[in-house]
Amino acid sequence: MKRVIFGAVSVWALASAAVAHSGATGVVKERMDRFEASKDSAKVLRGAVKSADFAAIEAEAVALNAWASEMLEYFPEGSGGSPSEALDTVWSDWDGFSAKAGDYEMATAKLVSAAQSQDAAATASAFKAVMGSCKGCHDDYKAD
Ligand code: HEC
Repeated sequence: MKRVIFGAVSVWALASAAVAHSGATGVVKERMDRFEASKDSAKVLRGAVKSADFAAIEAEAVALNAWASEMLEYFPEGSGGSPSEALDTVWSDWDGFSAKAGDYEMATAKLVSAAQSQDAAATASAFKAVMGSCKGCHDDYKAD
């Protein structure tokens, strides 16, 4: 994914090459790290759903659910703009964004219980719903 960096920020980012995510710091870096972890979880989940490894599914789903329940706290007013990929709609449509986060929290909770019930079909469909809510939120609230 290409990230566009402007002027002073890029000089600063070069000067601190050790800082990940194109110079993101503070809460922006923290949420990026959490989303990167979600991406890793999704990858583990894909394999675990295929092999019906319910313990692994439950562990990753619990982690996603914990992040879902905290996510809104990581989007304080004024934390948009480069290098963040969050669209201004996060804050201009906070109710909509909160609703997506709530849907996501519910979808991850369903995945936890499906894994606990060891029902392969329910687990597969709950996993699909979780992945759908990642995309559903990104479509409206994250730059590509
Ligand atoms: C309620 C909204 C919402 C949900 C649900 C959501 N995301 Fe995101 N995601 C965002 C926003 C907003 C950003 C941009 C954050 C930023 O750059 O400040 C983002 C950024 C990301 C990033 C880029 C992180 C980086 O390093 O810049 C990845 C990867 C990601 N999300 C993966 C996922 C995955 C996988 C899921 C589902 C398992 C998911 N997200 C669910 C809103 C959401």
